Amino acid sequence: MLTDLERGKADARTNTIDYDRISGLHYLGNYVRRLPTNMARMMENAYDWEHLPYVHPSSFASIDLVDSGDWGWRARIGVPGTMEPTYQMLDLLVDAQKNYWVSTVFNGPGEGIEIHTQATTLSDDEIQVDVRFYVPEAPGDDAASAAILGYMQNQYATLYDEDTDLMQGRQSALEDRSRWRAGKPAPGEIHVGALATLDTAQSYTIETTTGRYCVRYWQGDWIAHSAVCPHQLGPLQDSDVDSEGRITCPWHGYKFDLKTGESNDGACAALSAAPDLVVRDGELYLAAT
Ligand code: FES
Ligand SMILES: [Fe+2]
Repeated sequence: MLTDLERGKADARTNTIDYDRISGLHYLGNYVRRLPTNMARMMENAYDWEHLPYVHPSSFASIDLVDSGDWGWRARIGVPGTMEPTYQMLDLLVDAQKNYWVSTVFNGPGEGIEIHTQATTLSDDEIQVDVRFYVPEAPGDDAASAAILGYMQNQYATLYDEDTDLMQGRQSALEDRSRWRAGKPAPGEIHVGALATLDTAQSYTIETTTGRYCVRYWQGDWIAHSAVCPHQLGPLQDSDVDSEGRITCPWHGYKFDLKTGESNDGACAALSAAPDLVVRDGELYLAAT
């Protein structure tokens, strides 16, 4: 629930970038980085508000969406590491033609900070981002200015480390999916291991010609489930099972019931069905078809 102040400020925002505004702001400095990803993944990442608290927990404690569209998104963000719950209102406006986006804090700590990012393609699998930091007023002196800039550069180094993993993971998940869609089911069984030696505390990831599955021990039985999140193909094999029998995707936090495969609150499709597990002569197999 937004406060009246937050709602009022959100309603007063526009959904297009005002490039002239920069001239009234103080430019602190920038952060430039080459990233081993392509522009499609980068732009997808800019629009993807949902990943922020899951992939970047040191910068975002929570996110509540106010609105989103082709223009970008607007949300209330929980500030991490504060004694009392503290929120910022933030929006990210995208100029998709220019591969340019602006995030603006428009309420709460850091109000008035604008961060302008220009992404540029360098090759099929490399881009560069130029992240430019603006504040409403010049800090008191050069030392204060350098301290704020250093803080922001560090924060963006961490954010882009985390986003690089996400974008590369997503790109390879898309390539895996194309391969699996083109693949023919291969009859037969895939050996998982001997029941006597399989580690019940571990999960085993098995790839077939048509998908990737996780085999793990849960409530006294070996079970198999899809290792690919139906939302945006996030990796599910490393998630612990919680006390309610659910696994959580690390990219956007969607939860799936291990028994039914259903997503927790119907937020997305259910997990795709996994092949059966077969035990023969003390050995565990995944039936590949
Ligand atoms: S990829 Fe989005 S929750 Fe799994
Ligand atoms: Fe991100």
